[in-house]
Amino acid sequence: MYNSGEFYYNIVMGTVRNSVTRTFGILTAGGDCPGLNAAIRGVCRAAYDRYGMTIVGIANGYRGLIEENVRILRPVDFSGILTRGGTILGASREKPFKDSYGRDSEVAEDKVAAILKNYRALNLDCIVVLGGNGTNTTGYRLSREGLNVVGLPKTIDNDIEGTDRTFGFNSALAIGTEAIDRIHSTAQSHNRVMVIELMGHKAGWLALYAGVAGGGDIILIPEIPYDIKAIGRHLVERSRTGKTFSIVVAAEGALSIEEAKMDKRDRKKMRAEFPTGYRIAREIEAETGMETRATVLGYVQRGGIPSASDRVLATSLGTAAADMLARGEYGKMVSLKGNEISAVDLSVPAGKIKTVPADHYMLDTARAVGTCLGIQGL
Ligand code: F6P
Repeated sequence: MYNSGEFYYNIVMGTVRNSVTRTFGILTAGGDCPGLNAAIRGVCRAAYDRYGMTIVGIANGYRGLIEENVRILRPVDFSGILTRGGTILGASREKPFKDSYGRDSEVAEDKVAAILKNYRALNLDCIVVLGGNGTNTTGYRLSREGLNVVGLPKTIDNDIEGTDRTFGFNSALAIGTEAIDRIHSTAQSHNRVMVIELMGHKAGWLALYAGVAGGGDIILIPEIPYDIKAIGRHLVERSRTGKTFSIVVAAEGALSIEEAKMDKRDRKKMRAEFPTGYRIAREIEAETGMETRATVLGYVQRGGIPSASDRVLATSLGTAAADMLARGEYGKMVSLKGNEISAVDLSVPAGKIKTVPADHYMLDTARAVGTCLGIQGL
């Protein structure tokens, strides 16, 4: 298995360290994001070079483990991928504990049984799962089934409990901010209200940070249901003071006070018909009579090369994960706390979403520079 010259060089030089983990699988699950390949490289380089571990690449998230779609990864596979967007392993939103309706079911039991069987057949000592809330929740549930699991926090949404930052967020923030800058100049030229919708279904971190970075006049996030009357008043007041255009930054999950009160299923059905940004633009036009346009940025936010900051974070989290594998420190997710890389039990992110707290300083920062957060007094 270890047929690389580099590896023998390390043995001869005595630089291969002891490791509890000899063979591990690695997968990327959920939506992709910039920095996944940097993290894969971080885990694999350190695991291979420092500890001589055997690495099994699992294709397309948990689906690859169910279907035993795997291959041994050698240095050539994780070389030259630091700056590449996407994931060399492929990703899917397969949730092995759930059926297609999102419920635990007998079908799901078959998938979990296949995972347990393949984990043993492949002689894995651990699986490293790179993903968001769902991926780390599945990792936690698999660890309760007896598997060794190490998680890494990735997502452009920055909404994973137990870590201050997820990789992918900084890159998406740069893309979102650049888009707002570009929208700014066309808004100015045409004296329009421009709504730009950024990703973030349940958490508004991306819209809030990009909104502040891009100087949004109104920022709407799912955590603060908006009042269209308050938005209208803010826009009219801006125009009264001589501002001929306005920028509204909305998270895809932004919702009105009325929608927040609706039955969840009815709301989901209604919202599926029309993207948030377009709906808000229509509401603004009806409320104020101002000419309003919408842009839905979509998957552009998840594509392309990672920012320098995401490369550094993904590499640090990845190499720390390799050290945890070597120590046999399983059942945890690597995380960033302040400026330190640490780890939390997988039960911490499991089943949770880290939303923007009402007292977060960035909300006050936005208010302090005159940004309206969608309701009176906020
Ligand atoms: O991965 C997170 C995310 O980009 C969310 O911001 C967005 O709501 C969702 O994924 C989109 O999911 P999909 O890739 O399944 O369309």
